[in-house]
Amino acid sequence: MNPTSQVRADFDRIALVSGEGWNHNDHYHPYLLKHIPHNCQTALDVGCGTGTFARLLAARSQQVVAIDLSMEMIRIARERSGDCPQIDYRVTDLMEWDIPNESFDCIASIATLHHLSLESVLPKLRDALKPGGVLMVLDLYRAETVGDVLRSLVAMPLNAAYKWAKAGRVRQSEEARQAWEAHGANDVYPPVSAVRACCDQFLPGAVVCKHLFWRYSLIWHKSLAQSD
Ligand SMILES: C[S@@+](CC[C@H](N)C(=O)[O-])C[C@H]1O[C@@H](n2cnc3c(N)ncnc32)[C@H](O)[C@@H]1O
Repeated sequence: MNPTSQVRADFDRIALVSGEGWNHNDHYHPYLLKHIPHNCQTALDVGCGTGTFARLLAARSQQVVAIDLSMEMIRIARERSGDCPQIDYRVTDLMEWDIPNESFDCIASIATLHHLSLESVLPKLRDALKPGGVLMVLDLYRAETVGDVLRSLVAMPLNAAYKWAKAGRVRQSEEARQAWEAHGANDVYPPVSAVRACCDQFLPGAVVCKHLFWRYSLIWHKSLAQSD
């Protein structure tokens, strides 16, 4: 796992070279949005990047706190969110933040938790949810079965077709490619079996699904009776 200082530096660089185009995470936003609780008052986006999902949350929640390690990500997120005054963007390391228990109706995290230890982060997010709240995670996973490899083979041509249809090109800019490649050199993703084992321990009843574009989702509803 990359040290926090390296992750921060990588994403400060990536923020400056990435455009606003479609990516694999955005593809699953509608799926995640279906799980937001009705009458959501407070939502948290962990690792919000440039704020694309935080702005979608803001249309469905009275208040949104959106945190990211990277100052550059937060600067751009603020620039793009002029019409969303209900989003409170903060440059914050999740693991350094002592979140008051039962603060949020909804907690989302996209392509971020693989930078952290699931054993540390899942109980922390569980405790930060209000009873009746929902945790929704979308993240990358490491292939571990023949089915995973076959899914990846199917995803490759579809990925190119989607990029062409959504962004008008298949390749990203050379600067963006180099920044992502440097970041990815030491990135590690958990296999879904490890995610499920961690959920069994900390989030019983969580639904973990594999998706086509190298992502898994984790949806967990904290029961109304559940208190920390
Ligand atoms: C791959 S980006 C995803 C950004 C955004 N969620 C999206 O879907 O576009 C991962 C983000 O997580 C942030 N991040 C990584 N570790 C973090 C931590 N400990 N606390 C807060 N943010 C973190 C990074 O700075 C980066 O912006």
